Amino acid sequence: MNAKFKLTEKSPWLAWTIFLATIVVVFLLGLLASSIIERRAEAAFVNVPKNKISEFEPRNEVWGENYPREFQSYYGTSDTLFRSKYNGNAMIDMLEEDPRLVVLWAGYGFSHDYNQARGHYYAVTDIHNTLRTGAPKKATDGPMPTTCWTCKSPDVPRLMNEIGVTQFYTGRWAELGPEIVNPIGCADCHDNETMNLTITRPALIEAFERIGRDVTKASHQEMRSLVCAQCHVEYYFDKKKVEGAEYLMYPWDNGFSAEAMEEYYDNLEFSDWTHAISKAPMLKAQHPGYETYMTGIHAQRGVSCADCHMPYKSEGGQKFTDHKMQSPLNNIANSCQVCHREEAATLMANVYERQDKIIENRDKLEELIVRAHIEAKKAWDLGASEEQMKDILQGIRHAQWRWDYAAASHGASFHSPVELGRVIAGAITIAQETRIKLARVLAQLGFTGEIPYPDISTKEKAQEFIGLDIKTMDAEKEEFLKTVVPEWMKEAKKREDSWEVVTVY
Ligand code: HEC
Ligand code: HEC
Ligand code: HEC
Ligand code: HEC
Repeated sequence: MNAKFKLTEKSPWLAWTIFLATIVVVFLLGLLASSIIERRAEAAFVNVPKNKISEFEPRNEVWGENYPREFQSYYGTSDTLFRSKYNGNAMIDMLEEDPRLVVLWAGYGFSHDYNQARGHYYAVTDIHNTLRTGAPKKATDGPMPTTCWTCKSPDVPRLMNEIGVTQFYTGRWAELGPEIVNPIGCADCHDNETMNLTITRPALIEAFERIGRDVTKASHQEMRSLVCAQCHVEYYFDKKKVEGAEYLMYPWDNGFSAEAMEEYYDNLEFSDWTHAISKAPMLKAQHPGYETYMTGIHAQRGVSCADCHMPYKSEGGQKFTDHKMQSPLNNIANSCQVCHREEAATLMANVYERQDKIIENRDKLEELIVRAHIEAKKAWDLGASEEQMKDILQGIRHAQWRWDYAAASHGASFHSPVELGRVIAGAITIAQETRIKLARVLAQLGFTGEIPYPDISTKEKAQEFIGLDIKTMDAEKEEFLKTVVPEWMKEAKKREDSWEVVTVY
């Protein structure tokens, strides 16, 4: 006879207790099951579509009537209040914050104006506002190509479908002003029929094809990052691929690392611009967010962008995906504590510690590159030859590319601190080796003194140092916003008013 049997035989009340407890548990499980079924029915009810969403429907409001919770949370990206130590939803003038950037980008639009990104809601407004798009008066004016619109709006897939991808990449930015008016939204990431995640940007599909991967075969979890990788990536405009077009390309053929992309660009002899002070052929890292994330521990453990930036949320018993994509530090409970047991303050400290440590050396690197640009100018002024400067200019290009890869990959000092530490250390070595070569060339030219570091303590002083006339640009921009943009909006409204929305019930 086993022990348990003996026990119930001795005390029958125990058998009765177990019996009653079992009945209670079964009853409770029944209740739970019925509640789940009810919730399912509720969910089905909530998701009864109101509008028939046509293919390429760019208006978030039209989708929003069918999916009010996702839509309302998406509108949360209009919030500009939260600020973390280095990031957040607020628009920060980065040139004011760090005037050395003006010198690093001398000769390029970013030295005019560069703000830290804010929510998706502002994508179209902010591209109108930035000095980098200039103040075009006609469709054929302005410094930027149409390609600049690609990561701003669900009007992009609509238009690519209407006029073709290559045509979309052809022409000046202002040409598409009246066409692209809805900020980043539903049609950028979702299939209108199934609501499945989908890739709408050809550049991502093509980049994957070139490395032998088929995006349509990506797993569901991968898609929760790949929808972001349509825009939060490094890219360039290829002017040679198709005559007349500035074709959007991701430089991924050799890999995602700073070295692999640099090799790709070097082989093409591609440069974004020639530096106004040093004359180096420069690369501008755009925002290699996806590439750097891929080298970090969370990606290696299969955690997606959406896991942290679009956590689940509950409202009235409904679980849905929070579409307020923002700094997860504004929502640690849902973004981190679903996986980590630590206190919010500890997790926040973990993030800040990694950011502080990366930024410490990145800051030092930045100063070294500013010095290298200025020393190179001195060498040119003293009559250095192209041959003497060749290696030096390449060194400046490579050091600044690595600096920018680390600085522009928003969030990467948390997403992948070890990789960023490695890249920055490499860049410091390159910058210093380049400065040793510069010292040698300067000595050959008869100069052995120290080149003074300029007073670039404010944005204004730095812009004056590189010879920019921002006042005129500001005035032209104001005029553009007052006269041209309202015309674009009028034209867009006329188009959208002519579209019929079919109501299902
Ligand atoms: C940047 C990409 C992106 C944009 C823009 C976007 N979504 Fe989503 N959406 C997602 C992701 C990621 C999920 C989670 C999907 C999953 O894991 O299956 C999701 C899930 C959903 C779901 C499924 C239910 C849920 O909440 O999980 C609905 C419905 C939805 N989104 C509606 C919308 C609507 C409406 C808009 C526009 C207002 C929108 N989405 C904009 C990425 C996006
Ligand atoms: C169609 C292009 C596009 C897609 C897709 C996209 N983004 Fe963005 N994202 C942008 C642009 C452009 C900005 C900057 C907007 C601005 O500053 O006006 C931005 C800004 C952000 C910000 C900064 C907002 C803040 O509050 O500081 C976060 C965070 C972000 N995106 C996360 C994501 C995540 C996560 C995904 C995928 C689920 C994603 N994005 C998909 C283009 C995109
Ligand atoms: C879906 C689960 C998941 C989410 C969400 C998540 N993490 Fe993690 N995190 C992990 C895993 C898995 C690891 C790797 C540790 C391991 O495997 O033991 C990790 C590692 C870490 C580490 C150590 C990394 C290092 O540098 O060694 C930190 C710090 C961290 N997470 C912070 C956060 C913060 C902050 C958030 C929210 C913004 C977050 N995590 C969200 C799963 C998650
Ligand atoms: C483990 C959680 C986690 C994952 C996964 C993750 N991020 Fe982040 N992300 C963070 C944290 C934490 C920050 C730092 C926020 C801060 O400093 O306020 C951040 C910062 C950012 C920022 C800058 C936000 C701002 O406020 O300016 C962007 C953009 C971003 N991430 C995009 C992405 C993209 C795109 C992916 C996927 C390729 C991704 N993140 C994957 C946690 C994560």
